[in-house]
Amino acid sequence: MCPPAHFRVTYSINPWMDPGKPVDLPLALAQWETLRDRYRSLGHTVDILDPVPGLPDMVYAANGATVVQGRVLGARFAHPERADEAAAHREWYRANGFADVTEPEHINEGEGDFAVTADWLLAGRGFRSSPLSHGEAQEFFGRPVIGLDLVDPRYYHLDTALCVLDPEGGEGNGDVMYYPPAFSAGSQAVLARLFPDALVAGEPDALALGLNAVSDGHHVLLPQAAAGLFAALRARGYEPVPVDLTELLKGGGSVKCVTAELRS
Ligand code: ARG
Repeated sequence: MCPPAHFRVTYSINPWMDPGKPVDLPLALAQWETLRDRYRSLGHTVDILDPVPGLPDMVYAANGATVVQGRVLGARFAHPERADEAAAHREWYRANGFADVTEPEHINEGEGDFAVTADWLLAGRGFRSSPLSHGEAQEFFGRPVIGLDLVDPRYYHLDTALCVLDPEGGEGNGDVMYYPPAFSAGSQAVLARLFPDALVAGEPDALALGLNAVSDGHHVLLPQAAAGLFAALRARGYEPVPVDLTELLKGGGSVKCVTAELRS
């Protein structure tokens, strides 16, 4: 995680960002610290990436790389405003004992568009990550990549519309929750075929970025405004852990966006 010390909304690269709307920086920091402490109290280790002045979106640490079995595929950002974040992430991984850190050829915004299931990568395209990055990731990780077309600019990254609930795997192809209208008709059909029993979210929870969640297979940390998902998660045996990240919503992100998962 990367603290929002330099978080601002000074440009707009997604429909959530309004540079005219002020950000309460102390509140953003306090909300971010609460999430960090929540992870720790649940028994997870949280490492910190130092924020860089002039890179206000760096708080969205999930976009800097994708890590599977300790191998790191770096990011290449679609917008010039975020381009310099990629090197900061690669340096962090190299300095923290990750031997295999690769700078990608094609545009990919890390876990913004790559969701890791027990066996595959689900990969978003349409707004940020290049379709060419899907083949690159498949070759790098040696896992099947399932391309999914995003069609609504409010759900510009895959992780704004879909969350893997059982990262270690479970019955069938695993368990996900997602918001179908964020996807093309064909991709909706793919998701329905792969995950016939998925938790399908409604619009109010999707608009609260309720799919921008992190699951350890039991706890699901998600925006507290996505209250419509809580009962459905409990019914599947998960424990919803609501978190208030309203200031970071002003940049177009929530729990998952600010969390890069270090899969060993
Ligand atoms: N303002 C950032 C952007 O538009 C938000 C990124 C959110 N991160 C995510 N994983 N969806 O790029």
